[in-house]
Amino acid sequence: MAKLSVLVTTTADQEFRSSVVRALRSSGVPLGVVEERDSRTDVPDLVVVDIRGEGSQGLQSVERLRAKWSAVCIFAVAGSSEPDVILQAMRAGANEFLAWPTTGESAPRDTEGFCSALTRIVERLQAARGNAASTSKTFAFFGAKGGAGTTTLAVNCAAELARVSKRPTIIIDFNPFVGEVALFLGVRPRFTLLDAADNMHRLDDQFLRELVAKHKSGLDILAGSDAMDRPNGQDGSALEELLQWIGRSHEFVVIDAGNLTNPCAEVAVFASDSIFLVANPDVPSIRNAQRVVDRMEDMGAGKDRIKVLLNRTSERHIIAPKQIEDALGHPIDHAFQSDYGTVSAALNSGVPVALSKGSLLATQLVEFTRGLAGLPMTVETSEIGRSRASLLGLF
Ligand SMILES: Nc1ncnc2c1ncn2[C@@H]1O[C@H](COP(=O)(O)OP(=O)(O)OP(=O)(O)O)[C@@H](O)[C@H]1O
Ligand SMILES: [Mg+2]
Repeated sequence: MAKLSVLVTTTADQEFRSSVVRALRSSGVPLGVVEERDSRTDVPDLVVVDIRGEGSQGLQSVERLRAKWSAVCIFAVAGSSEPDVILQAMRAGANEFLAWPTTGESAPRDTEGFCSALTRIVERLQAARGNAASTSKTFAFFGAKGGAGTTTLAVNCAAELARVSKRPTIIIDFNPFVGEVALFLGVRPRFTLLDAADNMHRLDDQFLRELVAKHKSGLDILAGSDAMDRPNGQDGSALEELLQWIGRSHEFVVIDAGNLTNPCAEVAVFASDSIFLVANPDVPSIRNAQRVVDRMEDMGAGKDRIKVLLNRTSERHIIAPKQIEDALGHPIDHAFQSDYGTVSAALNSGVPVALSKGSLLATQLVEFTRGLAGLPMTVETSEIGRSRASLLGLF
């Protein structure tokens, strides 16, 4: 899950908001940007308040937020570092202060200094939370191109995680319009992600339980939207908050994020502990994967969080794995065999691939999932995995 939740308040300057969010993202610490709600219990970890400009609106916001959340870390951003301004901010209740002078209208100067100050605070907060932080892990699956097998791997990995870990696990379908997660699992959901996004003010554990559908493996499913144009960019902050909430009740959160053009892809990128990029061993897929990795890195996702999954490999390599790794500048984290019979049998029966006996693909999925759950490999799995993997000549 996003480890820290951040609220950014500004009276007018939306540019300020996006600059602060960009600066926070560049820290590399997974965090979620949330909206302010009436609830006094949903306390963010950090509040960044814009106190620049004439009048005392910003300072009033600091006072109000301090009265609302006595323990929250409030970071006041002023237009100058005059001693008077600092004093007023501290008196109002800010615990951190930073001057972010503007040139002309609102373009900020010294963005680097600002970013590194924010990064230091975010890292400190993160360290202070340490072991107290939730142990929940979020895994987002993205496709390098359509049809790469993103939903297949996300769904099977989620069902296997629920089965082997016996811990609360959920899969969330971020795809706009006809996401296929529920279909792949043979479940008919009554509600979708949009019912959650549109009712954030009602969200509590009970409400969440009503929204999710159950798979027989124990997996919870928050099904994909049935609206053509949603989730869209406007749903981003609700989804960030939803992930924060879900991370409190679920130990493993799997997101089928579709591809990077999904308007809510950014939310999945920043909320995830690991980002799995699913590619096939063919030229268009590798070329797209290369671009997606670059774009994700530009967005601020550290290289170590991005993991490449090569799906649909076969004995006859069209492109050698080493060549693929060189082209991507990124190692292949796991490879999954092309096995249409097993995948389609699983799809038709609603029984996850990992349960199909005697298939290398099932072994690879079990091995991959146990790694995610931090479980040791079974003797049987490691032996079959090793012999078959060497057969494929992949690792
Ligand atoms: N390892 C595999 N071996 C054989 N077939 C596979 C494998 N993985 C996925 N497929 C098949 O590839 C097709 C596309 O899979 P899937 O729907 O999971 O891809 P996707 O990336 O989610 O597609 P979309 O971009 O439409 O969301 C399906 O028919 C699926 O059964
Ligand atoms: Mg899909």
